[in-house]
Amino acid sequence: MFDALEPRAADPLLDVIRQFRADPRPNKLDLGVGVFQDEHGRTPVLRSVKKAERILLETQETKTYLGAEGDVEYARTLGALALGELAGDARTVALQAPGGTGALRLGAELIRLANPATQVWLGRPTWPNHEPIFSAVGLALCDYRHFDPATQAVCFDELMAAMRAARSGDVFALHASCHNPTGADFSLAQWREIARALSERRLIPFLDTAYQGFAHGLDEDMAGARLVLGEVPEALVAVSCSKNFGLYRERTGALFVRANDAAKAEAARTNLMGIARANYSMPPDHGAAIVRAILQDAGLRAEWQAEVADMRTKLRRLRESLAQLQINSLDLSRLADQNGMFATLPLTKGQIARLKDEHAIYVVPSGRVNIAGLMAADLDHFAAALRAVLIDAARETESRSIGAQKPCSVH
Ligand code: LMR
Repeated sequence: MFDALEPRAADPLLDVIRQFRADPRPNKLDLGVGVFQDEHGRTPVLRSVKKAERILLETQETKTYLGAEGDVEYARTLGALALGELAGDARTVALQAPGGTGALRLGAELIRLANPATQVWLGRPTWPNHEPIFSAVGLALCDYRHFDPATQAVCFDELMAAMRAARSGDVFALHASCHNPTGADFSLAQWREIARALSERRLIPFLDTAYQGFAHGLDEDMAGARLVLGEVPEALVAVSCSKNFGLYRERTGALFVRANDAAKAEAARTNLMGIARANYSMPPDHGAAIVRAILQDAGLRAEWQAEVADMRTKLRRLRESLAQLQINSLDLSRLADQNGMFATLPLTKGQIARLKDEHAIYVVPSGRVNIAGLMAADLDHFAAALRAVLIDAARETESRSIGAQKPCSVH
């Protein structure tokens, strides 16, 4: 049977991790996978997480099964953090999930079960795992352009055109904040237009929320998403605790589904439990137990919020420093207005390879740079490397790796 299998190309993000770890050069710089690093280049366990773990060690009395929906109280508490008041009404159901990826996969399977003809619209570029997750369950994908790397602008008109072209019942996967991989988010005015278009065209948003607190604040970063959720009859929201709680390997997330009424929400919940049971039976508990312990204790919660604010401040400062760099023809000034961990630079594949081969700097093959992987002390190294690989830009005959089309209108 396995003779029929052909080897498969490695996932582009996970491959960058592998290559970086194998590189013996001491000055190497990992701007690949989306992991937050502090000013010493480490990704330590958050202090609030360590304290919560100590509490769990002392107080947890059993590790018996919870059930396919996981820890209901965790999902309720996380729902209040992400969705605010909307999480509490009877039209919303919540399921703990193994990370944001698990939540997206559960939602994708629910969509397929409800209507296999649904098309899922992705704004390009998007997180590289979106396409495999939705395709794996057999849903058809449609594209539109989210972002133009040359101007660093959101292609908002192209999203609006896609919404006009979509069929009623189609799903739009949207990043709630800190767009991965571009950092280019919608303004509140644009979210208002999105909410109107979704509701007029009877389209369903699937909001991917992985960086709450990394742009402007915990509530501020969900303002657009909440606006949409308040407007549309049906929606899905995937929440990840990997980044803002630093729980990457604990696979901690949740899926929220808003249905037309309480009875339909309950149908969605029981179907989701069936999907979870057939996939992994029950989600892992440890990360969820930590998040619950933090969010339900006023002191720990305040400590965690301060840690998120520190991460946000580091990102904001780095963005401001990067925006001031003078790098040949590369204009980085708009990085200061963008949010979160990532930026997508208009680099060719050849330039990205030279950053790695000649300067030991690892970025994702799409041109995505994880800003959170930089320390202030790395900026000179990074700027010098960019200058060196861009100096030959005029001689590069290769087409740009992404976004070589006409520029999109700037908003
Ligand atoms: C990333 O985008 O680098 C992270 O979200 C890690 C992942 O799972 O892709």
